[in-house]
Amino acid sequence: MINLKAELKDVSSIKSDALVMFIPSDDKSNKSSKRKLENLLGKSISPTSIKDVTGKAGETTVLYTPDIFASKRIILTGIGESEKVNLEYIRRAGAVAAKKAQGLKLSSIAYILDIFDNSDLKLDDSLEDISCAIAEGAALGIYKFPTYFSDEEQKSNPLQSATLIAHTKKNLKEIERGVKRAAIISEGVYLARDLGNTPGLDLYPETLAAIARNECRKAGCKVTIFDEKKIESLRMGGILSVSKGSEQSPRFIIIEWNGGKRTEKPHVLVGKGITFDTGGISIKPSANMGEMKMDMSGAAAVIGAMKAAAMMKLRVNLIGLIPACENMPSGKAIRPGDVIRIMDGTSVEVDNTDAEGRLILADALVYAKRYKPKAVVDLATLTGACVVALGHYATGMMGNDENIIEALKAAGNRSYERVWELPLYDEYEKLIKSDIADVKNVGGRWAGAITAGWFLKKFVDNYQWVHLDIAGTAILEESGDYTQKGASGVGVRLLIEWLRTV
Ligand code: BES
Ligand code: MN
Ligand code: ZN
Repeated sequence: MINLKAELKDVSSIKSDALVMFIPSDDKSNKSSKRKLENLLGKSISPTSIKDVTGKAGETTVLYTPDIFASKRIILTGIGESEKVNLEYIRRAGAVAAKKAQGLKLSSIAYILDIFDNSDLKLDDSLEDISCAIAEGAALGIYKFPTYFSDEEQKSNPLQSATLIAHTKKNLKEIERGVKRAAIISEGVYLARDLGNTPGLDLYPETLAAIARNECRKAGCKVTIFDEKKIESLRMGGILSVSKGSEQSPRFIIIEWNGGKRTEKPHVLVGKGITFDTGGISIKPSANMGEMKMDMSGAAAVIGAMKAAAMMKLRVNLIGLIPACENMPSGKAIRPGDVIRIMDGTSVEVDNTDAEGRLILADALVYAKRYKPKAVVDLATLTGACVVALGHYATGMMGNDENIIEALKAAGNRSYERVWELPLYDEYEKLIKSDIADVKNVGGRWAGAITAGWFLKKFVDNYQWVHLDIAGTAILEESGDYTQKGASGVGVRLLIEWLRTV
């Protein structure tokens, strides 16, 4: 991870490979920031050399500074129309600048923040939040997954540090808080992305559990891992039947962070941990099946968020629950038509072995009851139907409580890991009726994301509950400004933003 820090310094004395300055695109602010730049650089810069800088979001221009500057370059980075600038624009601009520096093989950059407290750009957001967004953008933008490359060039990450520059003491305090938060959150997102990107050959329930234990214990959490024997004794039939076809035995991972008062009820996070989803006997087509190494992205989000929450010492009690299985076809696998029993005794007709996520989540939702939770949020790459409905830019949300739904919407908008509610109307329930068991694990052609949600709802006790279907947002087909093709690590930033307010 890149080293993120804050410093109180005069612009000319900052020692870095490049300074970063943000330039707005609308005429008035664009002109006035260029005028300030000319004042700063003096005669050394001809006014025409910055004439072409439009300030459009995504644009970068590299200038070389006169000798009186300790930094040799300035990366002018477009931030878009000043009226529209918000934390997301800022996060993206932070990423664009860092990626430009990375491309030039620079090892350090320094962001100049003056623009955020003069009249060119007046935002309602605190300098702490602005700093957090810039630093997050920088760290997430240059993320790489180098583990399986042999070539040093492909493995290397030249950009080692990003410093946010304060120009007053009071500023420094705020910026420091923002940068520190960004560093912790980014570490959580890196962990989630790394887990998602790791192939099923190396990441299976046992290794997922070992990584969760190492990473979360390091941060101060308590971690307990149930093996197959223990899972059997608890009668977690969803987990047992899904893992039956695999050579890899399942695990049930429990991560605890007790940052709140002893008497305070915990918030429970549940993450789907299918380390590879072939579909089982209802086998998937081979095109893009490799993406199903990321079918543990819900688990990855929970592990990343638990680690980050502990590192931030959030004053809440948190429980992370992860059912981890591999879904494989074999002579031992469950078949379509089989009837199994979830931990609470509910019988389920498994009409399609590819609808496995809901089976293992059902056991976890039943297990969650013993914590008498204040709220339970589950995250799962649960349905292709959710990707059809919302694509890659919104997570599907269903739940049973208006307050928690609204709180997650708000956290989604702030973190820009946006969520969109789908209805759990009563009428949908009949779609998962079974002729021979209490419930069926699939609902037919229509409303696939909702019937999956309804299935989960049957195992929810009288606690507040939200289900997040991250099938479209966890697995990306192309890169964005601060996301890369592959595992996005979605959920970590959303959960932390939500938990900061509960
Ligand atoms: N892991 C998949 C859902 C998925 C699909 C996630 C595409 C990410 C991208 C899940 O286990 C699954 O296979 N769901 C089935 C359910 C169906 C059989 C009712 C699906 O969506 O096709
Ligand atoms: Mn499946
Ligand atoms: Zn799956």
